[in-house]
Amino acid sequence: MLYNDDKNLDSVASSIDSPTADLSSMRGQLITFEGIDGSGKSTLAMMAADWLRARKIPVLSLREPGGTAIGESIRTILLAKANTAMCMETELMLFAAARAQLIREIIKPALAAGTWVICDRFYDSTFAYQGYGRGLDLDHISHLMAIATGGLKPDRTFLLDVSLDVAVSRLNNRPGKADRLDQEDAEFMKRTRDGYLAILAAEPDRLVRIDADLAENDVLNQITKCF
Ligand code: TMP
Repeated sequence: MLYNDDKNLDSVASSIDSPTADLSSMRGQLITFEGIDGSGKSTLAMMAADWLRARKIPVLSLREPGGTAIGESIRTILLAKANTAMCMETELMLFAAARAQLIREIIKPALAAGTWVICDRFYDSTFAYQGYGRGLDLDHISHLMAIATGGLKPDRTFLLDVSLDVAVSRLNNRPGKADRLDQEDAEFMKRTRDGYLAILAAEPDRLVRIDADLAENDVLNQITKCF
């Protein structure tokens, strides 16, 4: 963790319930939401942010790739269906570039000011999608992520783990046009999900597995229990 905060989420949350809590003296927490497409992660990231705001915690909600003018431009390039020529290495470095910008321009200043940051995707997505999904070398990705993040790690990561059947049925019912990254097949989704589970096994203290097959409110309950 780049900013050295030895308070865990439980102690922060319990002090917030206390009338004497001094929120201004607290450092912000970086909470990330991860999962394959169709896991419901974006909706739950918003619901969790609202839950924290209702408890008077200052929260900034961000998404990756994006969150800055440069990052949103990179997102447009990454998602454009016309960009069928994009090679895996270009894709990897564009995600890393958007993240580098977001961290320095928005996330680090917010955390330093005591704001909690809820980020819809972070570097675990790059390991899961570009590493496990596409098959790019995990050590190379680690080096690139070290440059992109400058060592910043999430305090807590919620992995919204959804079965492939449920994810596919949610994606089929989703309104709006599919983007370039929605064109992947079931095998890619499976490799990506397995990648997330491998990351969970490697870092059980940071990642929390959430059963995302359940209804939204049940998923939210699992998450808020960890705050
Ligand atoms: P979203 O659908 O959650 O907005 O994410 C956009 C797509 O980008 C989604 O298909 C996952 C993909 N993605 C990666 O492949 N690698 C990454 O590092 C990130 C942040 C997203």
